[in-house]
Amino acid sequence: MKKIALLASGSGSNAENIVRYFSGKAGWEFPLIISNTADAYVHQRAKDLQIPSFTFPKNGFENGDVLRLLQEYAIDWIVLAGFLLKVPARLLQAYPGKIINIHPALLPKYGGKGMYGRYVHEAVVAHRETETGITIHYVNENYDEGQIIFQARCEVLPADTPDEVAAKVHDLEYRYFPKVIEKLLNRTE
Ligand code: GAR
Repeated sequence: MKKIALLASGSGSNAENIVRYFSGKAGWEFPLIISNTADAYVHQRAKDLQIPSFTFPKNGFENGDVLRLLQEYAIDWIVLAGFLLKVPARLLQAYPGKIINIHPALLPKYGGKGMYGRYVHEAVVAHRETETGITIHYVNENYDEGQIIFQARCEVLPADTPDEVAAKVHDLEYRYFPKVIEKLLNRTE
């Protein structure tokens, strides 16, 4: 049984898409969702999916509270699905090679501190990029720098707004993120 914790800071549409993709597939469990934001919409999605969700402030990730909860639920993989805090060293040490993230751009472009969600798409449009995409990667101690597992691309048209780019990128995320998780975890365990 693969037990995966989903971490999300905002809307949680990727978290929901992942849970729905795996529902009915034997051997996969998503026992909890963790957020750093109490009023994030991901909590409503978790409720609808009948998955417990928890909120921790930043120091909960640093002081071991989150780690204790993950261990209580016997979690063996962590998937960041729109999670915006830096993952602290103690979590990385407890889950070596078992934390993955999705970033809404083609890393190493448009990554790093402050580059998340909407800001990424605004920067892509401002720089008149002709393509963007998604990057799924292992998490290490630096923002968006862990080893890349998978990338997919989409076109950016000259007239595209950041919202239109966001929609294209979300489509790629919904299409590929669950499948990449499935393939990766089947291969590694
Ligand atoms: C997603 O586009 C994800 O790639 C991005 O936040 C969005 C969350 O959407 N993550 C980052 O920017 C991480 N640096 P969602 O809450 O609807 O899944």
